[in-house]
Order: sequence, then structure tokens, then C-alpha cells
Amino acid sequence: MNVIRFSDLIAAGKVAGQRVFIRADLNVPQDDAGNITEDTRIRASIPCIELALKAGAAVMVTSHLGRPTEGEFKPEDSLAPVAKRLGELMGREVKLVANWVDGVEVAPGELVLLENCRVNKGEKKNDPALAKKLAALCDIFVNDAFGTAHRAEGTTYGIAQYAKIACAGPLLAAEIDAITQALATPKRPLVAIVAGSKVSTKLTILKALSDKVDGLIVGGGIANTFMLAAGLKIGKSLAEPDLVPEAQAVIAAMKARGAAVPIPVDVVVAKRFAADAEATVKAAADVAEDDLILDIGPQTAAMLAEQLKAAGTIVWNGPVGVFEFDAFSHGTETIARAIAASSAFSIAGGGDTLAAIAKYGIEKDIGYISTGGGAFLEILEGKTLPAFEILTQRAQEA
Ligand code: 3PG
Repeated sequence: MNVIRFSDLIAAGKVAGQRVFIRADLNVPQDDAGNITEDTRIRASIPCIELALKAGAAVMVTSHLGRPTEGEFKPEDSLAPVAKRLGELMGREVKLVANWVDGVEVAPGELVLLENCRVNKGEKKNDPALAKKLAALCDIFVNDAFGTAHRAEGTTYGIAQYAKIACAGPLLAAEIDAITQALATPKRPLVAIVAGSKVSTKLTILKALSDKVDGLIVGGGIANTFMLAAGLKIGKSLAEPDLVPEAQAVIAAMKARGAAVPIPVDVVVAKRFAADAEATVKAAADVAEDDLILDIGPQTAAMLAEQLKAAGTIVWNGPVGVFEFDAFSHGTETIARAIAASSAFSIAGGGDTLAAIAKYGIEKDIGYISTGGGAFLEILEGKTLPAFEILTQRAQEA
């Protein structure tokens, strides 16, 4: 993707003494008391901030946190816990600034965190008046918020329209590079794993990928609907029977290209959905009327693992079973370990997928772990995300 990269501006000596506005995605999960429970996005945002500071810029960083009501700042909307964690990780105090739209005091070498940008009126609808004010705060706008790249908001799109210079930060650039490597110029065979509870939420992804991939592994409730499409019985398992024709169309599209959607040959079933339910391995053809399919069986898992080990590129979104329950976690674990062991370039994204990666401790063996949730899914759907679109446009004008 042809965008201006922040690293290029630094290399060209264009950042020293400049006012740099970084849009990061610091939207991290918190418990009821407001404590941060997972800080990957904060850690992933630090390299850009460090680069800007090292280059001698006056650095402003902002992010959204949650989905607050515009114009009504509430204590739980505050980035204060993020400022604290960022400060701990960077080993410096991070000043948090509220009511910043009309002007920010920050000197070269200084860093300020600007309060939750979604509290500003006009942010979500990308009001041009707000966007112009945001752009006036800086000389260089850096979008480093891949997690929010699918939103055309004031700090993700509007500011990029009007800022003197608009560029991609290192995190956004790394995501672009990894996704391009995986989807636009993949080493073949390209195998995608699309799993989750419902075909309906991932149908556009399945359709988009059925044009590109050499193998499309489905899992979870999605696999159940595909088993129905293949004429198998699934008992009382979660599925969407009305989407069987769509699943059949995906199977047919893959077959027409000489590619395949592997259908499970065995499954792990239970009579109820519970961590302590008895797990039974059955051939896919033997699922009883009162069975619930909660995982793929060992034979299927071994077959898929072989396919993954031989892949050139792997795109992974979603666990293939109820991996939170140990008795039904083996399919996901086998898949995870096969991806880790494969020499393929692998890219993984989505909340449940990241939880599975963490559970099996294979972070270092995945080629690229995306910080995007919805943004990652929209990329898999084949959409051009607004943040990329405007940065590409600005690069063309430059
Ligand atoms: C996310 O958590 O996926 C991003 O931060 C985007 O958040 P949003 O769905 O509230 O826009």
C-alpha cells in the first residue's frame, strides 16, 4: 500500500521540532474497577511514541476508550489508567490533558496523552469542523491505530484529510505489510482458518476468501453448518440451517478452483454445554440427535495439522472448538501447535484467537499477531479500510 511512513519522514529529518499528533488504539479491556486486564495494544503503541520523541518532536497521543457519549465526559471514559500504564512501561510520567481540541501546550521532547477522543463532539461522524481543529493542532498526523482503521472518525480520517502531513505509524505500517504478505502476495498454499459460532457473522469473509485461498478450514458453529451442507447430521449443535445454501456455494466455489473446505471426519460431542460435561469422540457420520458438537475430533485435527504444516501462508481467525473447556480444547490446541510448528508465514487476529495463542504460549511462533478485532475481520472481507484509503490518497497528493 502506497502511504507515507512516519519512519521515512524521520529518516528525511522532517520530524525534529515538529508537532506530531499520534492516533493510537489504546482501547484496552478493563475490569469493573477500571483496572487494565490486557495491555497488548498499549505495548504495541510505544514504538511509534518513542520514535517521535527520539526524533525531537512535540508529541501528542490520543485514543478512544470504549464507546462514550459525545460531549458527556464520565470518569469511566478517562484514559487515566492508560496514562498510568503507559508511564510505567515507558519509564516516564505521562501527562493526561483534558479539553484539548482548541489547543495543546507541548514542547519538543515532551509527551502528552490527550483524553478519550470519542468524547469530543463530532468525532464519530467525522464532523469537518472538528477535523479541521484537530489538524490545526499538529504539523504531522500519524495514524498508528490499526484497531480503529475501519472507522472513519475525526481522529482516524478527518484529521488525515486536513493535516499538513498525514502518515502511517510503525504499527499501522507493520499491519499493512503483514496483511499484504498474507493476502496479496502469499506464498502458496494459502490456508485460512475461519472459525466462530455463526456463519452469518463471517459469511462475507468466507466468500471473499473462497476466491483466494487453497484451503479453507472452518471451525466451531460455522463447521456445523458446513457439515449440514455436506449432508451430515449434527444433532442439537449450534448451526444456521437457513445458511446451508450459502455454505454449499462456498464449497462449490472452492471446488471449482481445485481447492477444498475440509469437512470434519470425526468430532468431540457432549450431551450438555458445560466444562465438566463428558466428552465423547465420534465419527462425523455417527452424531446422535441429542449430541452437541463442541470440538473437532483427533483424526480431523491431525489431518488439518498436516495441511497447516505444509502451508506457505496461514491466516487464522477463530478457535475450532470450545477451547475454554479443557475437554474440548484439543482440536484448537492441535491447530495452534501445527501453526506454530509450520514454516508458513502466519497471521492471526481476533479476540478469541489471541486468547488461544496466549493459552498455548505460541506468541513467538506466529508470524504476525494483529492488534485489530473488527478491523482485521474487515480486511479479511476484502474491504479497503478508511484509514488506509485516506492515507493512500494523501500520499498520492504529496
Ligand atoms: C476495537 O476494540 O476493536 C477497536 O478499538 C475499535 O473499537 P470500536 O468497535 O468501538 O470502534
